[in-house]
Amino acid sequence: MRGLGEGDLILGLESSCDETAAAVLRADGAILAEAVLSQLTDHAPYGGVVPEIAARAHLAHLPALVRRVLDAAGTTPAGLAAVAATAGPGLIGGLIVGATLGKGIAIAQGIPYLAINHLEAHALTPRLPLVSPEGLDFPYLLLLLSGGHCQCVRVEGVGRHVRLGTTLDDAVGEAFDKSAKLLGLPWPGGPHLERLAATGTPGRFALPRPLFGRPGCDFSFSGLKTAVANIVAKGLDEAGRADLAAAFQEAVAATLADRAAHALAMAPGARALVVAGGVAANGAVRAALAQVAEKAGTRLVAPPIRLCTDNAVMVAWAGIERLRLGLVDGLDHAPRPRWPLAELARDGGA
Ligand code: KG4
Ligand code: ZN
Repeated sequence: MRGLGEGDLILGLESSCDETAAAVLRADGAILAEAVLSQLTDHAPYGGVVPEIAARAHLAHLPALVRRVLDAAGTTPAGLAAVAATAGPGLIGGLIVGATLGKGIAIAQGIPYLAINHLEAHALTPRLPLVSPEGLDFPYLLLLLSGGHCQCVRVEGVGRHVRLGTTLDDAVGEAFDKSAKLLGLPWPGGPHLERLAATGTPGRFALPRPLFGRPGCDFSFSGLKTAVANIVAKGLDEAGRADLAAAFQEAVAATLADRAAHALAMAPGARALVVAGGVAANGAVRAALAQVAEKAGTRLVAPPIRLCTDNAVMVAWAGIERLRLGLVDGLDHAPRPRWPLAELARDGGA
């Protein structure tokens, strides 16, 4: 394969959960076009993502979305230098849709195909020129805080990631969503809970701070959710709901800050503390993590929200990072519903 030229165009595809997304990036990281179709309204009646509905929606919408981003970028499939698609971890139906479309384009155009690990795509996002114009060197610490994932990862290089901690039960976004549901808020509840919390006072309810002060960087949220359930069961007025939302949010932010402080101590030399995932949208969480980063003598990098939540820009960018190192995947690469970051190194990191 010839080297990647600065002007080369890469198509990224994301379809691992409930966002259908496509993006075209130039090899220097410039974003030429991006589009995300959320399936929220398809899944909302069920209070969670229904895999079969997700797969069908990706199939129905991804091809048109690809045409749209190619048009917007002023190019055609023939103008692409490579295709990168999320190949795991995630829901297998959606992964098959994205990976198969990506391979089809790669075959038709005779260009490289990159099977991207979704977690690595989140992990490399802070190195996008838009996020770190001055550059961001390895290593750094990533807190991935989404509805499906809750992990603390030391990012040492492309394909080289060390998981320092993970959740012992619920992901943090899941805890937001379950607590929001208990408070009578619509799914997904995180943003609704944040708005309700803004009208409440956190001090009224004492909630647990799971694993607070314990060594390591694991997380646990089910006890917190149970505490919320027990308070709700006793009956709450409007002001009480807001106060409980505020207490919950404060407990989560404090817990995440404690865990992040431990992680920074476990991984000295980190150039930054990076947050990704939908929960990174939460103002209280960001503020608590910014404080921790400052105390540890580093800085918090929080990508714009649209790049924190699932998107295809991060997939194309991960493709660029891998292509720069000469890493490409065979067309026989099978999508992997389970694909821990640690296994990337074995498959060929750099
Ligand atoms: O990364 P994401 O869009 O999708 C995956 O889970 O992969 O994350 C969605 C999660 C949901 O649990 C949602 O409630 C949560 O992120 N979330 C928030 C906020 N915005 C989204 N949680 C707390 N505060 C927010 N402002
Ligand atoms: Zn994600």
